[in-house]
Amino acid sequence: MSEPKKLFIKTYGCQMNVYDSERMAEAMGAEGYVTTDKVDEADMVLLNTCHIREKASEKLYSDLGRLKPLKAEKPDLKIGVAGCVAQAEGAEIQRRMPLVDLVVGPQAYHRLPQLAKSGVPQVDTDFPEEDKFDHLPERKAKRGPTAFLTVQEGCDKFCAFCVVPYTRGAEVSRPVDRILREARDLVSRGVREITLLGQNVNAYHGEGSGGAWTLARLIRTLAEIDGLDRIRYTTSHPNDMEDDLIAAHGDLPQLMPYLHLPVQSGSDRILKAMNRKHTRDDYFHLVDRIKEARPDLLLSSDFIVGFPGESDKDFEDTMDLIRRVTYGAAFSFKYSARPGTPAAEKAAVEASVADERLQVLQALVTEQQRAAQNGMVGREVGVLYEKAGRLPGQMVGKSDHLHAVHVDDPAGVVGELVRVRITGAVTNSLSAIRIS
Ligand code: 5AD
Ligand code: SF4
Repeated sequence: MSEPKKLFIKTYGCQMNVYDSERMAEAMGAEGYVTTDKVDEADMVLLNTCHIREKASEKLYSDLGRLKPLKAEKPDLKIGVAGCVAQAEGAEIQRRMPLVDLVVGPQAYHRLPQLAKSGVPQVDTDFPEEDKFDHLPERKAKRGPTAFLTVQEGCDKFCAFCVVPYTRGAEVSRPVDRILREARDLVSRGVREITLLGQNVNAYHGEGSGGAWTLARLIRTLAEIDGLDRIRYTTSHPNDMEDDLIAAHGDLPQLMPYLHLPVQSGSDRILKAMNRKHTRDDYFHLVDRIKEARPDLLLSSDFIVGFPGESDKDFEDTMDLIRRVTYGAAFSFKYSARPGTPAAEKAAVEASVADERLQVLQALVTEQQRAAQNGMVGREVGVLYEKAGRLPGQMVGKSDHLHAVHVDDPAGVVGELVRVRITGAVTNSLSAIRIS
């Protein structure tokens, strides 16, 4: 038998891309490709790109440049570009980098196998009528204990800085029955924790029995699946945190006590300019209600500093919001002007000012992150073992609150969900002893 062909995938950006890369690997798997983590031995290289900030898209071109010698050595090597840069730039990528054989957008990747078979350069950035999920192979391989499941794609919010509504398109929710089928299938193959994904996951409104379902109803139904012990969802918009979803945090033990709820800025003036359609007080009020439902919930957020027009006072409002809310983790970015977005028309804040603000904000967030970790010491939490640790007899997994935890447990097995007591906190993880 001839050697199977090898596919190397590099994934940039968000968890939705991680999910898409898995599905693309499965689509190519049906064509006889196996994945490899060694780019040198690949017959096909696929770069699944991110367009969210300028730096993210620049990475694509530097990585393509680095592939030139490999392509010169192996002329049959196929090079594909997928994801949001593919969607935004299309054929321009091949003009700039002729070594690229195919360009495929996030809504058309079920067509990847056909595109890969063609002997001439291909570009497919359609938003096709058919649903890509109906044209992808069933997910068959045995799995680790955690999985992502995309339930919703695209965004109608049009935050003034963001390319997502343009690259991923309008908001679309997958039908309930397909999601339930995929979830049951994942659980039958060893998955115990599912993270539901969507650019605006809590705006979910997929068709199910009796009409459109909310995310809360979907989560409640998923929680009935035997063997599905943990459910998470990301990313949420504050304006879509409906009452039934907040209530689910209070009464569903499977719904983990961690929520990523980006606010971007703490200044009402900037929130308005960003087209976020909520105020800082709305956000405070929302956080209070969620914490009332689930007092031990850890929150995380995204922040942008240096949005056009951001004054020292606006930035101070953001710092004040962070101090008042207190986060378990946060992701912060310097504003990056994205072509085609309304904010890109406006004058940018001076780079040195934005750099300085980013540092100040990150120092505060790091402090809060450490405090949240230290606050876990002595507590009992659940940990789902994902892999063996670096030290002998050690297992590593995530706590209910999404902290990485190292547990000294020579008898531990990947996929076990155990109770531990947290004994210590280091820079990026916690240590613990198993108690049951
Ligand atoms: N500049 C900087 N950060 C951005 N994000 C989205 N667009 C931009 C941009 N143009 C950040 C937001 C979002 C996260 C995924 O990326 O904080 O929540
Ligand atoms: Fe982008 Fe705003 Fe939509 Fe999030 S809600 S994907 S930041 S437009």
